[in-house]
Amino acid sequence: MEIKGCRVLVTGSAKRVGKEIVVELARLGAMVMIHAFRSRKEAAETASEIEAFAGYRPLVLHGDISLVETWTAMNSEIEEHHGGLDVWVHNASTFSATPFFSTSEDEWQQFMDVNLKGAFLGCQVLGERMKRAGRGKIIAIGDVAAELVWPSYIPYSVSRAGMHALMRGMAQLLAPHVQVNVVAPGPVLLPDGTDKAERQRILETIPLQRIGTPEDVVKAVRFLVESDFITGQVIRVDGGRSLRGAEC
Ligand SMILES: NC(=O)c1ccc[n+]([C@@H]2O[C@H](COP(=O)([O-])OP(=O)(O)OC[C@H]3O[C@@H](n4cnc5c(N)ncnc54)[C@H](OP(=O)(O)O)[C@@H]3O)[C@@H](O)[C@H]2O)c1
Repeated sequence: MEIKGCRVLVTGSAKRVGKEIVVELARLGAMVMIHAFRSRKEAAETASEIEAFAGYRPLVLHGDISLVETWTAMNSEIEEHHGGLDVWVHNASTFSATPFFSTSEDEWQQFMDVNLKGAFLGCQVLGERMKRAGRGKIIAIGDVAAELVWPSYIPYSVSRAGMHALMRGMAQLLAPHVQVNVVAPGPVLLPDGTDKAERQRILETIPLQRIGTPEDVVKAVRFLVESDFITGQVIRVDGGRSLRGAEC
């Protein structure tokens, strides 16, 4: 699919990695739509940044992705403003360490609701619309944690593994007209407040000897938008970290 002119929604795109994706796709000529939940101010700033070079102000959508109402409302707004959607980059997620034996039921549920149910609802609403249109791409940003399952992040990793499985299923269900793939980053943008020692520890687990960058993820997304013969795949963007297994 040619990026120029295609209508793209990037969830969780007010800041950080999602912002890099939406800004770069806009730079390449896509008609982008921003989605944010809590970061309303940052979403408006990202829209202004894009407006300054793209010549249009991107539609900004809001809402909690774990609620079906959010997806149906976004779908209606997309229809009203753009008459359809060519690419959905599902980037929004929640991430934190949860020591297993003190993880509460609510914490567990939050990972499942946002990371797994959110993707499921998005596939039902936006996937169905793409199927009807006979055209589209779904690119889910996952995590190599889905396969590696770090002991301190078990609920998060399980939610990501479920999301990867969901996307493999969708790739079959939506073929032949809609391609569905996952980009699974390793560390590309560490959480705010990550200390020097932790950064160094992570660095030592990466064969390519650097922490990735959001740009590394953007390149994989771009590749998948432009490739029309790939579906049901997981592209790991992790500097080879997954080669070393879960102990890292
Ligand atoms: N950063 C990394 O090194 C890394 C490594 C592996 C995988 N990944 C994956 O790459 C993607 C981007 O990474 P990131 O670090 O930039 O992500 P992030 O900052 O942790 O989260 C991205 C966005 O998700 C949105 N979000 C969270 N809960 C939501 C909810 N209930 N409803 C709607 N939106 C919600 C937030 O939007 P608001 O701020 O608007 O609330 C947030 O800005 C994520 O899927 C992440 O899991 C990242």
